[in-house]
Order: sequence, then structure tokens, then C-alpha cells
Amino acid sequence: MMSTVVTRPDPVAAVDWSNAENALGYRPGDVINIGWHCSDRICQEGRAAKTALIWEDAAGASRTYTFDDLRVHSNTIADFLAGLGVQPGERVCLFMDRIPELYFGFLGVLKMGGIAQPLFSAFGDESLMTRLANAGTTAIITQRKHVAKVRKIRAALPDLRHVIVVDAHDAPLREGETAFDLDRAPRVERFEVFPSTAETPSVLHYTSGTTGLPKGAQHVHYSLISQYLTAKVVLDLKENDIYWCNADPGWVTGTSYGIIGPWSNGTTQVVLDSGFSADRWYAFLAKHRVTVWYSAPTAIRLLMREGAAVAKHHDLSALRHLASVGEPLNAEAVIWSRETFGHPFHDTFWQTETGCIVITNLPGMPIKPGSMGKPFPGITAAVIDPKTYEPCTAPGRVGLIGLRPGWPSMIRGYWHNPDGYARKFVNGWYLCGDRASIDPDGYFWFVGRDDDVINTGGHLVGPFEIESALLEHPAVAESAAVATPDLVNMEVVKAFVALKPGITGDEDLELDIMNFVRKRLSPLAMPQAIEFVTSLPKTRSGKIVRRVLRAQEFGEPVGDISTLMDE
Ligand code: PRX
Repeated sequence: MMSTVVTRPDPVAAVDWSNAENALGYRPGDVINIGWHCSDRICQEGRAAKTALIWEDAAGASRTYTFDDLRVHSNTIADFLAGLGVQPGERVCLFMDRIPELYFGFLGVLKMGGIAQPLFSAFGDESLMTRLANAGTTAIITQRKHVAKVRKIRAALPDLRHVIVVDAHDAPLREGETAFDLDRAPRVERFEVFPSTAETPSVLHYTSGTTGLPKGAQHVHYSLISQYLTAKVVLDLKENDIYWCNADPGWVTGTSYGIIGPWSNGTTQVVLDSGFSADRWYAFLAKHRVTVWYSAPTAIRLLMREGAAVAKHHDLSALRHLASVGEPLNAEAVIWSRETFGHPFHDTFWQTETGCIVITNLPGMPIKPGSMGKPFPGITAAVIDPKTYEPCTAPGRVGLIGLRPGWPSMIRGYWHNPDGYARKFVNGWYLCGDRASIDPDGYFWFVGRDDDVINTGGHLVGPFEIESALLEHPAVAESAAVATPDLVNMEVVKAFVALKPGITGDEDLELDIMNFVRKRLSPLAMPQAIEFVTSLPKTRSGKIVRRVLRAQEFGEPVGDISTLMDE
């Protein structure tokens, strides 16, 4: 019988992490700084005048930057932060829409030795507060349109010494806020980059789990090795490519593959700071002659809903490689994209914690629509029996996705939460929290999450954070937030709410509760449906059992409920 511990797909058997070290001129013990590698090094290789970024916003305004611009603008921001007294190792939050300053700021923070903490700009004040407080963030770089959220919580954040506004222009700011204008700031041609080494912390991304508040996934500069190589091999980046990753850098895809992967490869990338519209997206792909596109199943399903005819109005002939991440990529989406674009979307599976793609359909590998593909070379992945924590030996058996720790971009811990991190490892395997099976050819098939985390449109939201926000609503006594199926977003949040005595639930209260959560957390975390109930299913010790409610939503068997309290 074949072993179901899979280490290597065939097409790139020779690919190894040392390939990346050699290509980047890295030797163990050397200085390695992601900010420098993504800009200065590309310039030193003679590509200073090459376009690094073509940026466009919703109104069609556009700006183009070379790798030399990337180098100088990131120097300028690094120098500005150092001048304010921000120290290496301090957390600097990037709280901006996808404007150029977000990208330069990310590299600038890394260049001065800070830890970049990107947060999704649609987060409400409570989501922001939780993450800034946990990280003990020193400085936040933001825009005028988002500064009100920072002002609301600042008094409760004693570590937050600097609030930097990049588009204040001449508008008045409050005391303790600092204006920074990239167009007016003196260009800093030379900046002494912080001599970070492999294990120096680089990026802190917050990610949601079932229990507790979001956890800070702590990356290091050595992650570059994995991000460089996987971007090159999985996304197939070549010298003349025009690459589009439509993820926001508030989430890990937008940094690993929206900044570090492409720019360390010297790839030209395009950024569209605008919401979804099929016509707008196709026009953007056509206008810039995008060749490689990294997207997500929800976006693909939205495009499918609009119909292939919309795509036919645009010249998408430059496209040559498509990849997807974040949620299960359904077989229909793969088949549809092959018919519509002439190329299938290649599924890629990974997590905030893994820092890089770990299971994937590599270019050139035969795709089985609906399968995530095979482990990337250098990654050992298996399906783990949830009882014995040994790899399942029988093909087709469903178990937990386990990875052997040790690849360069794996996080080094959760910020101030060593126990939470230790709990992710069993029997020498890092457990992703997902279930899958492996077929006789070694292809992985995703089955579902193994916890209560809700994956809505490719974004994980934690039930605990939503329930905590719900409890702050004056009418709510108890609540449970679970996933409910959705045709486009795969899952959306549904809240079961028990009201305080004397309060009756009606449509107005439902809307009020929804908006309450949206404002505090984010549009993603907002329940799309609320069901008022008199009680919630609980264990005998009084713990709410979300899985019973979730199973009802998905029409699945509820499983063993013998330990539940009969209320
Ligand atoms: O449940 C899996 C799902 O997204 C989770 C990771 O989410 P996050 O840390 O926010 O990172 C998202 C982008 C890398 C996984 O544990 N997921 C990610 N990719 C896939 C997926 N589920 C199915 N198929 C995928 N390709």
C-alpha cells in the first residue's frame, strides 16, 4: 500500500529551499532584510528602472513606480520612523487602503527593523483595538478617512506613541498626530538598513481561531526564502510578467504574494484599490496585459455569476497562468476558467501560519478539478488520524492536515501566546485545523475546517470575537456565531441570539444588532442572519456547543450530543 505521507510532486523534484538561498545570495548567518531584498537588491542587479508597481484606484487615477522608486520611498518612510524614535523590534501598524504608501510603508518598516503589522482598513474600532493592544503597537500609519477609529481608542492604548497620517496635507491634526506626505518629504537616497538576520521578527498578522481573541502570527525575515521560491515556482513568475494579486495586505496573501514574493523576484505588479466589479476587473486585466493572476474562489464565483460573456468584451489574451487561494476551489470554477480564459485556476492551500503555499497544483502538473494538488517540494504533508495522530495509511481516509515543521516561512509563534502555539503541534506534526483526504495518486482533497472558525469569502473570522461584540449589545443575553452556507462567499456568519428578559426580537432589532457588529468589527464579521432563540445548546458544564447549530445550518448530522444539557 502506498504511503500517504507525501513529500514531493514530480514536475519540480529538483526544487529545494537552498535554490532560493543561492539565488538570493544568502548564507546562514548573513544579514537578511525583506525590505532591502525587495527593493535595493533588485536595483543592484541592474533593474532599478524596471516598473515595480502600477497602481490604480476606483476613480481610475493611476501611478507607476520603478524599483528605484520603491527603494527610495521605502527608505524615506524608514528614515521618518527612525527619526520619530521608533525602535527596531517595535510594532508599526499599517492601517490603510491599498494606496502606494501601504506598500512602501511595509518595506520601510522592515528596513528600519520594525515589525510590520498590517491591518485591514475596513476593521472597526474594536477589531483594531484588540489587535493593537495585544501587539503593544508603538506607531500606526493611516489615512484621514480612518483616523477617527484610531482617535476613538487611543486613550486606551498607552503604548501607541505615534499616529501618522499620510494624506493630512494641510488639514489640521490633533495633538500627538503627525503628518507625513510622501510627495513632499525629502527623498532619502541612502538609508542604513537594519541588519536583521534570519530569525529577526518581520511581520505580525492577526488570525482568528475558535477560542479567544485573534492571535498574532509572528513571522521572521528568513520567510523570504519560502516566499521568493514559491512565488517563482507556483505562480511561475518570469522576468516579463505583469502580475496581479487581488488580495489586501491586511491578510497574509496580500503580503506574502502581494509584496514579498513578487518584488523579491523583481516582478512588475499591478494593484487595483477598488471593490469588485466583473467589468472593471476584466478591463484592468486587459489594460495592463496581466499575465499572471492570483485570486480567490469567492471572486471567481462572482465572475461566474456575471457570465462568461462579460469576459468576452475584453482582450484577456495576455493571461497565461491563474492561481487561487483562501477557500475550497470548486471543480466547476476550474472548468469554467479553462473555458473562459483558456487556463484553469491552480488551487493553492496555505495559511497565515505557514507563510507560504504548502499544497498546490504546480504549473505543468495535471490538475484534478476540486483537488488542492500536492505538497510543495520541501514540505512534508500528511492526513493525520485524529485518534492516533499518526498519518492515515489508507488513501481516501479523511483526517487532519498535518505538516512537518521546519520550512523557512513557518511562523515562530503567536505573539505573547506560547501555549496557543504549542497546542497546534501533536506527535511532531503541525496541525492546520483543516480536514482532508489523499487519493491514490497523492492529491489532497479538502473536506472542511476542524474547528468553529468561519471562512467567509476566504477570510477567517473567529466566533469568539463576534460573540464578544454581540454581548456588548444592550439587548443580547447570550449568543453563538456559526457559519451558514452561502452561494458566493461559501460561508457567512449567522448569529443565534438569546435576548434579555422582556425584550422581543423583531426585524428592527435584527438590523440594529447587525450594524452594531459591523461598526465594531468589520463588514465580514457582521452576521448576515440573526435567529432569536430562547436558549442555546450547551454542554453540562455550560459551554455553548456551536457545532450543533452549524450542523443544522448545513443539513449535516449533528454527531454525539449525549453530553449536552437538556434545557
Ligand atoms: O481553512 C483553510 C482555508 O483558509 C485557512 C487559512 O486562512 P488564513 O490563515 O486566513 O490564510 C488564508 C490565505 C492563505 C486554511 O486553514 N484555505 C486556504 N486555502 C485553501 C483553504 N481551504 C481550501 N482550499 C484552499 N486552497
